[in-house]
Amino acid sequence: MTEATDRPKVMVIFGTRPEAIKMAPVIRALNDSPLRSIVVVTGQHRDMLDQVLQLFAIHPDYDLAIMRHGQTLSDVTVRVLTGLEEVLERENPDLVLVHGDTTTAMASALASYYHRIPVGHVEAGLRTEHPYNPFPEEMNRRLISRIAALHFAPTETAKQNLVRENVSPSSIYVTGNTVIDALVSVIRSDYRFRDPELARIVALPGRMLLVTAHRRENLGAPMVRIFRALREILSRFADTRVVFPMHKNPAVRHLIKQELGMLERVHLVEPPEYEEFANLMNRAFLILTDSGGIQEEAPALGKPVLVLRDTTERPEGIAAGTLRKVGTATSEIVAAASELLTDTDAYSRMACTANPYGDGKAAQRIVGVLQVHLFRGS
Ligand code: UD1
Ligand code: UDP
Repeated sequence: MTEATDRPKVMVIFGTRPEAIKMAPVIRALNDSPLRSIVVVTGQHRDMLDQVLQLFAIHPDYDLAIMRHGQTLSDVTVRVLTGLEEVLERENPDLVLVHGDTTTAMASALASYYHRIPVGHVEAGLRTEHPYNPFPEEMNRRLISRIAALHFAPTETAKQNLVRENVSPSSIYVTGNTVIDALVSVIRSDYRFRDPELARIVALPGRMLLVTAHRRENLGAPMVRIFRALREILSRFADTRVVFPMHKNPAVRHLIKQELGMLERVHLVEPPEYEEFANLMNRAFLILTDSGGIQEEAPALGKPVLVLRDTTERPEGIAAGTLRKVGTATSEIVAAASELLTDTDAYSRMACTANPYGDGKAAQRIVGVLQVHLFRGS
């Protein structure tokens, strides 16, 4: 029998809420496999990350605790690079897994490269082809693609993006997106909200518009335009109400409170933990968001989404009909929302349940590929 210390060691590194949600199924699959796993969180997020760790009972082996309020992208990068020095040195894993396009993911891939440790990239190949949109995510994921040895693309489109950049097709695996694995584990039609405030809000009459916004490129004027569109929609449609979980970024919260704080039928709430939030999405009439992950979850739930961005790296959701990219102009947002609030055919066309992002088994596929590679190499 193979001794524990002979088994290949995979280090999973992440730091923000969406990475944690999407890596949780991978960690579970690793724990069910013969591979050894080490979990490192950078703590780029704190409360929003800890919520997910608690929900999925993930106990990190290392926590770099790098979050500082209002820190710059360079601060995040430097803290991750220096924080990982000792961890990588001590653990010397056979492979590091990173996720997506955050600065934690980019800096962790770079730190691994400096230690000559191969990198596997989960959710590889998403592209808008605009270097500053989303910022800095488009550049982060491009840089990770240059470093990674294994690319786990959620869709065939993502694979083709990598092939176009001369990534070797033999290193790319189309797995589906692990967000679907996470989503199916928490959605229930008879879900009862634990938070009394959410339970109360969900029970109120009227159509619920669920809104989130946090992207750096939307900070400032674009967000103000988005929030003014919400005010206009509320004044046009008396049976609507807005539920707005406020991202912890103080700059975002300041704007939300300034523009929407005093309005009736607006519920500004702390970010619900993932199980609560996913079931809140499931109860919404319409979702307005600049989030990446929500663009992947909503098609699986059949919830129409107005994407509050000028670009999206999720063309599959647009093709499926569930997402509509509306940008950040007040008039465009109001027009699109008004159509969906008045035209039942237009609404039904978008509310179709189509799931281009996988069957909920992406994590198993990723860990299967890792086993083949790492046991063959050892
Ligand atoms: C980060 C990612 C972004 C991802 C998003 C998910 C980068 C550059 N950005 O953006 O790709 O879409 O997370 O939410 O990697 N804060 C808290 N508590 C928390 C989390 C954040 O107080 O739990 C506050 C801090 O003041 C922090 C600020 O929010 O400085 C911004 O956090 P940061 O991780 O730099 O950027 P996000 O906008 O969250
Ligand atoms: N989410 C959550 N609580 C919230 C808002 C979002 O659990 O209050 C979940 C959401 O379902 C998705 C992920 O967090 O899985 C998306 O995170 P975010 O929008 O912060 O990041 P992005 O996906 O844009 O990188």
